[in-house]
Amino acid sequence: MWAFGASLDEDKLSFSNGWKSISKIKFPEQGMCFDYFFDVEVGWSHWDNKVAPFDKSYDGLYSNIVVPTAETTRQKFLLDLHVRAKKGILYVGTAGTGKSVIIRNYFSSVDPEVIANQSISMNSYTDSAALQVVIESRVDKLSGSNYGPQPAGVTLIYFMDDINMPKLDKYFTQSPICLVRQILDYGLIYNRDKLSVQMYLHDVMFTACMNPKSGSFNIDIRLSRHFTLISCLTAEREILKTIYFQILNNHYETFDKVNADLCPKLINATMNVFLAIANSAQFAPTAIKFHYQFNLRDFARIVQNLLLAMPQHYKGNPLGIVRMWAHECHRVWHDRLIFDADREAYMGFLRNGIKEFGDFKEEAIFEEPLLYTSYVAMS
Ligand SMILES: Nc1ncnc2c1ncn2[C@@H]1O[C@H](COP(=O)(O)OP(=O)(O)O)[C@@H](O)[C@H]1O
Ligand SMILES: [Mg+2]
Repeated sequence: MWAFGASLDEDKLSFSNGWKSISKIKFPEQGMCFDYFFDVEVGWSHWDNKVAPFDKSYDGLYSNIVVPTAETTRQKFLLDLHVRAKKGILYVGTAGTGKSVIIRNYFSSVDPEVIANQSISMNSYTDSAALQVVIESRVDKLSGSNYGPQPAGVTLIYFMDDINMPKLDKYFTQSPICLVRQILDYGLIYNRDKLSVQMYLHDVMFTACMNPKSGSFNIDIRLSRHFTLISCLTAEREILKTIYFQILNNHYETFDKVNADLCPKLINATMNVFLAIANSAQFAPTAIKFHYQFNLRDFARIVQNLLLAMPQHYKGNPLGIVRMWAHECHRVWHDRLIFDADREAYMGFLRNGIKEFGDFKEEAIFEEPLLYTSYVAMS
């Protein structure tokens, strides 16, 4: 099913129904066929059964936090399978579908002595020369014209994020993509100082992500044919809630109880506003509102900002936390709106969202000045 159905997006559901109907071993009713793996002892088993508990001891950088979910777990499994077969995966999905999270999670779970990685974020200015510098920086001369990562036995994975971003040249090709294709097809690069010298690369692999709604939209099929294509969809509402609740709760556990109890409400309220904006045609990007790109990153930013609060500043003051939440929503959403009608609609969503908090009066939450910063100490 991964070979045929992985590249589908919305059609995954009808594929799954068809697949379930032809499977000799009966699938459980719930969910799609992709939600299950085959366990020889019990038959189809849900990926949820394999999800590791959330490791709270992340290294402090918000962008490095990964909450294990069924999605990260099964993609880790698939990546592992592909790495052993030395075949790359190309993850395709719009912004904020967790593509980079999947790969980061995979790299953090493997032994760097066996699988090393080099991330390369592509942008419209990345050209083949810049890419080659990064590629060469991770390989050493082994013998003659052979190059590979050190120490021997390690496989190096180049992770190219946003691979379709480089701009098209006048021949409608993207030079970094041609370079990767050349490496995959012929296993070699040319020494740029002396073009007659070939450098053969060993034990290197490529894996990539792309957003089909940005950059050049497509990439050359001569490159994409080397990859297994997996499409990523936005996670379901409940899964998103669990992800952000775990991150937020981990921080708010240290707060006094009235504040700690706010966690699920903060997540629900953010979710309400986020969904209202995401589903509203008024907030879709148009020619004059081209920057109206609202996606999961906004949700992530709000949670990130809520993590800046220190317990000692909010003792017995849950209203302070709710006000801070409203402030963060303003900074993430309100500040980007350019029409009064949009601002009003947004305020409507926010008023709807604060119903989650029950007891607090609207006037108290939005009372001006509504300002929170991370560098002014409150006494
Ligand atoms: N399992 C997860 N654990 C933690 N955060 C996640 C998870 N899945 C998605 N996210 C959140 O989704 C946001 C977007 O993910 P990202 O990988 O940057 O998307 P993409 O690369 O597809 O644009 C991140 O900011 C992150 O907070
Ligand atoms: Mg990304």
